[in-house]
Amino acid sequence: MKHVLVTGGLGFIGSAFVRQALTERDWHVTVLDAMTYAANPANVAAVSSDPRYAFVHGDICDAAAVRQAIGRGVDAIVNFAAETHVDRSILDPAAFIRTAAIGTHILLEAAREHAVGRFLQVSTDEVYGDVEGGSSTERDPLRPRSPYAASKAGADLQVLAHHATYGMAVLITRGSNTYGPYQYPEKLVPLFVTNLLDDQTVPMYGDGLQVRDWLHVEDHARGVLHVLEHGTIGEAYNLGGGNSRTNREITEQLLAHTGRSWDSHVRHVRDREGHDRRYSLDASKARALGWSPRHPFEAGLAATVAWYRDNEAWWRPIKSGEFRAYYERQYAHR
Ligand code: DAU
Repeated sequence: MKHVLVTGGLGFIGSAFVRQALTERDWHVTVLDAMTYAANPANVAAVSSDPRYAFVHGDICDAAAVRQAIGRGVDAIVNFAAETHVDRSILDPAAFIRTAAIGTHILLEAAREHAVGRFLQVSTDEVYGDVEGGSSTERDPLRPRSPYAASKAGADLQVLAHHATYGMAVLITRGSNTYGPYQYPEKLVPLFVTNLLDDQTVPMYGDGLQVRDWLHVEDHARGVLHVLEHGTIGEAYNLGGGNSRTNREITEQLLAHTGRSWDSHVRHVRDREGHDRRYSLDASKARALGWSPRHPFEAGLAATVAWYRDNEAWWRPIKSGEFRAYYERQYAHR
C-alpha cells in the first residue's frame, strides 16, 4: 500500500486513523472531507504539514470531488465519511441517507472505475440492532432500528454487493461505541465531560441502564488499519472494545473524575425514541486476525477526561457555535 484515500478524515475516528497512518506507515494519505459541523482541521494538525498528507475539500456525494481525490492515484479507500449521531438522525434523517446511500454508491463506483485495489467501509455495531442477550457475530442478520443505523446497514449491503457482483476487493469493520480525544461534544462521553467541567447538568435518557461496549478511538483506528492490511477480502470484522458498561456506570465515573455529584448534576430526561437497550460485539474474528484493544477502559476514560480538561481551546468554540442551536432543539423540551 502506498497511497490511501481517507474520506471523512477530519472527523473523530477518521482523524485518528490519519494520524496513525502517517506516523506508523510510510504511506501517502489524501483526506477527502465535506467539512460538515463534525469535521475539524485541528484534528489532524499534528500531521498535516507532512509532505505525504494532502487534503481535498469535497463531499463523497459529489462524483467530481471524488474523482479529483482518487485522481492522485490511490490504491486503497477507507470510507469514514458519514453522518453519525443517532439523535440527529431522529430529528432529520435525510442527510444520513444521502451520505450513506448516495455517497457510498459514488465512492464504490469511482473505486471500480479507477481499479482501486481495496475498499474498506467503516461501519458500526448498530447495524445488528438491539441485542437482548449474547453478542453479535458478523454472520448475524442486520436489524437496524434508527435512521442512522439503517443508513449504515444499507451502505454495508452496497459494499458487499460490489464484491459479489464486480469482484471488488472490499472489507467492512463494525466498531462499537468509541471514546477518546477530539470527539465532537454531542456524544455521551464528550457531552457529559464538557458539561460537567462547566458545572452544568447532564441529560440522562430514560433509566440509564442501556448498555454499550466501549472502545478507545486509537484502538478503533488501529483495528481499521489492521483489517485494511490483513483482512480477508469480502469479509466484515467486528471491532468491539470488550468493555460493556451501563450509561449510569459511565456517568458515575465521569462525575467522580470531575468532582461533581449525581444529585446536583444528573438530569433525567425523556428517553430516546426507539432507543436500543444493548449492543454487544463478539470480536473474536478480528482478534484471530491479530488485533486487540490496548487501552484499558477505566484508564482510557480518565485520560479522556484529562484531555478535555487540558484542551478547552479545542471544544469551547464548538460548544458556542452550531452546537448551541442543536442542543436547544434536542434537549430544551425533553
Ligand atoms: O455503537 C456505535 C455507535 O456509537 C456509532 O455507530 C455512532 O455513530 C455513535 O453515535 C454511537 O451511538 P450511540 O447512540 O450509542 O452513542 P451516544 O453517545 O449518542 O449515546 C450513548 C448512550 O448514551 C446511549 O444509550 C444514549 C445515551 N445518552 C446519549 C446522549 C447524547 C444519554 O443518556 N444522554 C445523552 O445526552
